[in-house]
Amino acid sequence: MSAPASGGWRVAPGGAVGGTLTVPGDKSISHRALMLGALAEGETYIGGFLDGEDCLATARALQALGVRIERPARTEVRVRGAGAGRLRGASAALDMGNAGTAMRLMMGLLAPQEFDSTLVGDESLMRRPMERVAGPLQMMGARIRTHGGRPPVQIQGTPQLRAIDYELPVASAQVKSALLLAGLSAAGRTRLTEPAPSRDHTERMLGAFGVELQREGRTIAMEGGQRLRATSVQVPADFSSAAFFVVAGCLAAEEPLLLTNVGVNPTRTGLLELLQRMGADIRVHPRGAGEGRHAEPVADLEVRRSALRGITVPESLVPLSIDELPVFFIAAACASGETLVRGALELRVKESDRLAAMAAGLGALGVEHRLLPDGLWIRGRDSLGGGAIDSRGDHRIAMAFAVAALRAHAPLEIADVANVSTSFPGFVDTARRAGLALEAL
Ligand code: S3P
Repeated sequence: MSAPASGGWRVAPGGAVGGTLTVPGDKSISHRALMLGALAEGETYIGGFLDGEDCLATARALQALGVRIERPARTEVRVRGAGAGRLRGASAALDMGNAGTAMRLMMGLLAPQEFDSTLVGDESLMRRPMERVAGPLQMMGARIRTHGGRPPVQIQGTPQLRAIDYELPVASAQVKSALLLAGLSAAGRTRLTEPAPSRDHTERMLGAFGVELQREGRTIAMEGGQRLRATSVQVPADFSSAAFFVVAGCLAAEEPLLLTNVGVNPTRTGLLELLQRMGADIRVHPRGAGEGRHAEPVADLEVRRSALRGITVPESLVPLSIDELPVFFIAAACASGETLVRGALELRVKESDRLAAMAAGLGALGVEHRLLPDGLWIRGRDSLGGGAIDSRGDHRIAMAFAVAALRAHAPLEIADVANVSTSFPGFVDTARRAGLALEAL
């Protein structure tokens, strides 16, 4: 169930980045396409699928539930949907690996089934809070048990769920999505109110599968009992993976760095606004909004080296940049002046405690900083030191520090990088192509 700490990178200091890159498909959208495809009637085609370990864990779990999934190519998937009520129980616990999104969304998908299920994961996932999903599902009548709020999650399938009117205590797309998935088979109208907007991929994709949803301000409403119709999903490149190169470009693109076909859903792109407020030269070239009103917007991003200035991050932008904050802290460490992020308590319950992991790494590079209960204060500097970084098995911490090397004056050795394959298979090659002097140890 748990993987040993493994793998490392050595990144030589300095250098420049440039050229044209396409990063792999969006993780959030790939998970959702598999799950909605499994619940739909007919065959769903997914193009641009992320073949990272997290999404493969979702695919394997759905296969264990009797869903036929084929991969005609590495990034193409065909899902033969069973229709909501026709999944079958798995013979063993479903292992969601490192994937928090997979576990939480599967809780909502499995709660209304006619069979029981158990969800487990790797060492990091087994420490993460699941009660935020189990609690509201119980209000719907689900029989679901965590262990001190954490996995393993044991679900006694209960096909007679009741819709709820629920105010989410934290802005979490995973909680919202799990409740929408359960709400699909609940009696009545599910109403969810968020404290602040979180990514809306589930709402858009449900629409593409023919489900009617209503949005009124911060409230989403959906009638239970609706059927999903199979469709075709084109997954854009993951903004969260592109983010490492957006920051790399701001730090060291002597020639323009172009990132193509990136998903720029406004509930994901808070980082662009933060960097632009710091003075970054980032140009967004929209590629059109795709087909239909549920489509995800896509753009090419053109980035040039920029003199960044520290900022105070508005708390409203935190949920819209939550997965990009690790690499944003690297931008802040290379900016002139001070940067302050507050209201980011959620970072403490990601794949690692990302506030603590980033603070420790910044300390190793000689960056003056203060770790706050819900954020970080950082004083930027012209040049960073080198040294040993422990990524704590967290993909985004590892990739963030690889980018930091562009402004370091000594090599960085980044440990425990195997989980980079959960979200960004091929990162080493892409980073080297961009110009980073990164070597796998
Ligand atoms: C995700 C939602 C976010 C994000 C995670 C992916 C999703 O988590 O951090 O990487 O796909 O719904 P929360 O819902 O916990 O904020």
